[in-house]
Amino acid sequence: MRSKIVAGNWKMNNNNKESIQLIEDLKAAIKNEELSNTRVIVAPTFVNLATSISAANGSSIEVVAQNMHQAKNGAYTGEISADMLKAIDVKTVILGHSERRTYFNETDASLAEKVDAILANDLETIFCFGELLEDRKSDNHFAVVESQLKNALFHLEASAWKSIVLAYEPVWAIGTGETASPEQAQEMHAFIRSIIEKKYNKEVADGVSILYGGSVKPANAEEIFSKPDVDGGLIGGAALKVADFTAIIKAI
Ligand code: PGA
Repeated sequence: MRSKIVAGNWKMNNNNKESIQLIEDLKAAIKNEELSNTRVIVAPTFVNLATSISAANGSSIEVVAQNMHQAKNGAYTGEISADMLKAIDVKTVILGHSERRTYFNETDASLAEKVDAILANDLETIFCFGELLEDRKSDNHFAVVESQLKNALFHLEASAWKSIVLAYEPVWAIGTGETASPEQAQEMHAFIRSIIEKKYNKEVADGVSILYGGSVKPANAEEIFSKPDVDGGLIGGAALKVADFTAIIKAI
């Protein structure tokens, strides 16, 4: 059975002290929660990963990275390799977030290389993708999502998909307060699963967790998560407040 996942993407927020505090608060808040088959994940910025991992020690909270470079090592000023992340016990890396694509020129081609580096290093990725507002308005959203997946992931062997979590994040819903309706999310998630089944098989399609991201809040989480093909959420703004993030975890 595929896992349910609630993942908080902290983006460029929280200094070291704040990161530790948020993890301590989250630990206390979910201490007595029954989290069967549900993963709780937070993604602090690189510089706070090691101390956040120590802070989460002894709890079920997983601490993951927001990005990674595809090269093994070398002259890439400011970048972080798989090896560096593994050395501090990071096991999962978010890739392809729309902010990385928009502000840092990440492309399907560079993301395919990053995914290959993830697999070569026995890491897992939460792979983000999603259409722009203009794509949806022009009814191109399915085609855009299909090409993002094909270009970055469909060169993989079926066996690699155990290391892939998908996060469908319509760009028009990220940080805007606007959310895809539960029906829009379900429609897209079912489409994603169908193209994976067509390319691979039913086992791969049924096994992959597909998260929804884009203005998930305590008020809308339960309805979105109730949809059969929505396996959880990638949460931005609401992951920065322990009460909101906890409420979203409880909603699943
Ligand atoms: P948001 O961000 O929840 O603030 O819309 C989601 C994301 O960027 O993953």
